[in-house]
Amino acid sequence: MKKVIFTEFGGPEVLRLVDAENPHAGPGEVRIAVRAAGVNPVDWRIREGQVLGAHPTVLPSGVGLDAAGTVDEIGEGVTGIEVGDPVFGEGSSTYAEFAVLSAWAKMPEDLTFEEAAGYPSVVETALRVVREVGVRPGQTLLVSGASGGVGSAVLQIARERGIAVIGTAGAANQDYLRGLGAVATTYGDGWVERVRRLGQVDAALDLAGSGVLGELVELTGDPQKVITIADLGAPGFGVRFSGVAGSVPDALAEAVDLISRGKLHIPVEKSYPLTDAAAAHADSHAGHTRGRRVIVV
Ligand SMILES: NC(=O)c1ccc[n+]([C@@H]2O[C@H](COP(=O)([O-])OP(=O)(O)OC[C@H]3O[C@@H](n4cnc5c(N)ncnc54)[C@H](OP(=O)(O)O)[C@@H]3O)[C@@H](O)[C@H]2O)c1
Repeated sequence: MKKVIFTEFGGPEVLRLVDAENPHAGPGEVRIAVRAAGVNPVDWRIREGQVLGAHPTVLPSGVGLDAAGTVDEIGEGVTGIEVGDPVFGEGSSTYAEFAVLSAWAKMPEDLTFEEAAGYPSVVETALRVVREVGVRPGQTLLVSGASGGVGSAVLQIARERGIAVIGTAGAANQDYLRGLGAVATTYGDGWVERVRRLGQVDAALDLAGSGVLGELVELTGDPQKVITIADLGAPGFGVRFSGVAGSVPDALAEAVDLISRGKLHIPVEKSYPLTDAAAAHADSHAGHTRGRRVIVV
């Protein structure tokens, strides 16, 4: 099979498409014939060797955590799924023709493989941070960096729960945020004043890691009401860093429920063939993805 790997840490140019042995599903796992793989910023952070603590990486390494495809091999102890079923979920080395998933759910009807590949990590992260920040229905959540993959999911989950959102994004994404039910404003000079004018903030999420934790603490009045997923300087502000992926075991089931009820949609910004994984990483690294980028196999 074809698979994207890297044999040294570095820029997008270290990615190579090679012939590899098919992986096999171990106990509690399934193998899928991959139809699409989600591109998450953590994929290029792993490739750069930035996150070895959270993602120990042995070289040569495959790339990719999220995928959608059809079940092709079923590991010992797995029930409730059959070969040929369309699924989406999380695993490893998903930029490949076949990959092993450790968590999956049957894909909702009406979702394409390309769309489905964009959901698993962002929905898990969004559900986790909304829970951890402790915001309640009727309260207002400020989301810094609201137009990316995680932000798109947070806004829709908040809307579903009756939580009001003020979101920041670039000028090109203001209407996008409004379409997801948020009150929108731009980041950059004067953003704190713009947010103040929009109303009181009960809790805040930093999804962009753009160095705004001090301002988020100021706006909420309490570092315990702020969570970041992208700023390692969090302890210096008394702010919690949320980073334990997989801590919402029912995230995929909840995603299926929300998608099926028309409450959650993550748009695909752009699709790339396996041969263009390096371009997908470079584009993701540029930091202005609306929704999710996807590798199509
Ligand atoms: N700790 C965890 O568990 C965890 C999990 C998932 C992701 N992450 C991290 O969280 C971050 C977001 O992930 P993602 O998948 O949502 O990324 P993404 O899809 O690439 O989105 C990035 C977003 O950041 C926005 N942005 C860029 N510069 C900004 C600024 N100065 N101020 C505010 N927003 C800005 C962009 O908005 P515009 O396009 O509108 O400019 C873009 O929509 C990444 O750094 C990722 O590595 C962490």
